[in-house]
Amino acid sequence: VSRKLFLNARIFTPKDEGKPLRGKGQGALLSFERGALLVEGGIIKEAGPEDEVLSRLSPSEVEERVDLEGRCVVPGFVDPHTHMCFVGTREEEFAMRLRGATYMEILQAGGGILSTVRAVRSSPREALLEWTRRNVRKALSMGTTTVEIKSGYGLDPETELAMLEVISRIPSELPVDVVPTFMGAHAFPPEFKDRKEAYVDLICDEMLPRVASQGIARFCDVFCENGVFDLEQTERILRRAQELGLGAKMHADEIEDMGGAKLAAKLRVKSADHLLAASEEGLRAMAEAEVVGVLLPATALSLRKPFADARRMIDLGVPVAISTDCNPGSSYCESMPLVFALSVLRMGMSPEEALVASTLNAAHAVGMASLVGSLEPGKQADFLVLDGKTPAALAYRLGSAPVRMVYKRGELVHVSD
Ligand code: NIG
Ligand code: FE
Repeated sequence: VSRKLFLNARIFTPKDEGKPLRGKGQGALLSFERGALLVEGGIIKEAGPEDEVLSRLSPSEVEERVDLEGRCVVPGFVDPHTHMCFVGTREEEFAMRLRGATYMEILQAGGGILSTVRAVRSSPREALLEWTRRNVRKALSMGTTTVEIKSGYGLDPETELAMLEVISRIPSELPVDVVPTFMGAHAFPPEFKDRKEAYVDLICDEMLPRVASQGIARFCDVFCENGVFDLEQTERILRRAQELGLGAKMHADEIEDMGGAKLAAKLRVKSADHLLAASEEGLRAMAEAEVVGVLLPATALSLRKPFADARRMIDLGVPVAISTDCNPGSSYCESMPLVFALSVLRMGMSPEEALVASTLNAAHAVGMASLVGSLEPGKQADFLVLDGKTPAALAYRLGSAPVRMVYKRGELVHVSD
């Protein structure tokens, strides 16, 4: 195996303590003013002050040296909530929203998620793969080295499984790790419009068992919202998923306070996402159960809604992660740097908290923290070289991602100038 030494790096990284960081710990970073990373076969062997790393090494042990010229180095972003597998845009609906229509009105009228469902059902698989690849490639160019991708635009057994197959092909085409999530409970398909319980039965009795037996998804997510899946249906689906060995996630309290955060805590799901309308009681229950709150500020921005109060959540002890929610409706955004900037500028997070939220806590939210999310021995050498002196550069530079180089398992996979 090849050994590579990265020198002269200003390293900033969270320290993994086996669970998501929260409260005062959410902003705790290790930093090495002049640091080094020793990488063997894509895995970090040592990370620390350059002189210490060098003192433990004989020169012949290293095949390649890379001088990072004093630039800021952070872990690659983990984007823990996306719907990047789709075809077609929804710009007409975006225009309708600008004229005052709401996201839920459009969905209730058979558009929104359901218009993408029509597009995906009638699309050749190759086109679905091509759109997904293009979305992920864009994310990678802005520093995303691990990404969760949900199904949920099929809403029938064959198309849902086809989406998960497309999603699972991405890592053989691009240098990213992908976490596939089954989201058959994204909306009720038109053919079950008046038979909602029958669709929940289909998910529990057929889709979930097939997904689980094929090992094609790691998580199951449900859009728990007024007019979509209610609390009871959500609980039934997620309990079935957990029984079958899948992790559970929820789109919770995005539009209205439904008690989604409380249910998330009761079911001990891995993450509850959105939380724009979550109650204080729900947030306290999440903190107690150590459920990660995944916040999606690009969605609030695109829906022109107030941002989630990350400051309050962190102070209550909820471990917070941030994500793009990349999808063709509520947030067509592949950029973790933009999400980082919104978190700092509009959600009251410090740059240090936002770095933990976009790396280690996000990795915990998708069950990937043993491999990624921090620059520590035993983890993959997935890291970014930034244009800037500190992680704050990610909030300071707006609109142009200050990500100069992207390394995946120790290999340079993207350079921008
Ligand atoms: O997280 N809220 C539900 N699902 C996505 C939007 C998906 C879509 O509109 O296509 C979300 O915002
Ligand atoms: Fe979403």
